[in-house]
Amino acid sequence: MKIGILTGGGDCPGLNAVIRAVVRKGTFHYEDEFVGFMEGWRGVLEDKTMELSLSTVGGILPRGGTILRTSRTNPAKHEGGLQLCIDNLKKHGCDALIAIGGDDTLSVAKNLFDNGVKVVGVPKTIDNDLSGTDFTFGFDTAVNVATGAIDRVHTTAEAHNRVIVVEVMGRDSGWIATYSGIAGGADVILIPEIPFNIEEVAELIRQRHARGRYFSIVVAAEGAKFAGGGVETLDGAAGRDEFGHLHLGGIGQTLAHEIEKRTGFESRSVVLGHIQRGGSPSAFDRVLATRYGLGAIDMVHRGEFGLMAALRGNKIISIPLAEAIASNRKCDKEILDAATGILDKLDAKVP
Ligand code: F6P
Repeated sequence: MKIGILTGGGDCPGLNAVIRAVVRKGTFHYEDEFVGFMEGWRGVLEDKTMELSLSTVGGILPRGGTILRTSRTNPAKHEGGLQLCIDNLKKHGCDALIAIGGDDTLSVAKNLFDNGVKVVGVPKTIDNDLSGTDFTFGFDTAVNVATGAIDRVHTTAEAHNRVIVVEVMGRDSGWIATYSGIAGGADVILIPEIPFNIEEVAELIRQRHARGRYFSIVVAAEGAKFAGGGVETLDGAAGRDEFGHLHLGGIGQTLAHEIEKRTGFESRSVVLGHIQRGGSPSAFDRVLATRYGLGAIDMVHRGEFGLMAALRGNKIISIPLAEAIASNRKCDKEILDAATGILDKLDAKVP
């Protein structure tokens, strides 16, 4: 078979591992040929391709980013865009397409599938918020980066008796904030799922300092909101991508300012931003991404189109693309309970 591959949306460590696994298993086990579409859907729309073979995927396993590059191009926002995609896939003689991406990329994949294209999806989001799958690759690497950063700000916060707010990624869900907050021993974790009362946050920090702890670490997801308020953006309502997403940022700085104003404790903020998305994938992400790639190429050969590879428990299964894009996966209760359990119990014991 001839199979097209693309990576769309925000990059995350492990994309190259997926591409490598698809090409290696496709070549060794199925005698497939591949064509790489560059820069997400832009490559399909504008016919930008690159060769994908055993030699082009050699040595890419530990590399972050994606050799296919990526974009947030939405063909539906371009005149005749979907038909152009269908025509270009035909032009290259593609029997199937593997689309590696989050809900935006996969919603285009679903649309093309509904129009006769044989598509298989691979879930990708650093935020870990795609429905139907337990973990997405890249998330573990991001949590490790954020945890390392929290460890570092701990020592400087302690040295200066400061409050430091660490802003991490997480547009609609607080997976990175919650995992790195637990792993890094944060004192307050703020996530998009639970709008916060700033006076309660300030009181928590005051009480902690009254117990003799003269510094605090707050971890906030970029999409965290004040109760009754909206998200903080860098360029207002104007800065939206082709899928309509706002350019988030600024909650860390706002929080540091509000905390200092209300408590009198000197406060600072750091934004981890794209540092979380760059660099080499963790071993866990390399293995998970490889398993997703192997799952996807097997799905193509089983004719499981309109479906996405998904992790359930420790098994790779296939689920409908429609299920994956239906809604964001919020941080689950068990992990939130772990976060609040640690904060309540341990801190209550601090003299
Ligand atoms: O969608 C994943 C994500 O990393 C979000 O957490 C973040 O808001 C966004 O991408 C950043 O996008 P960009 O790379 O376009 O700035």
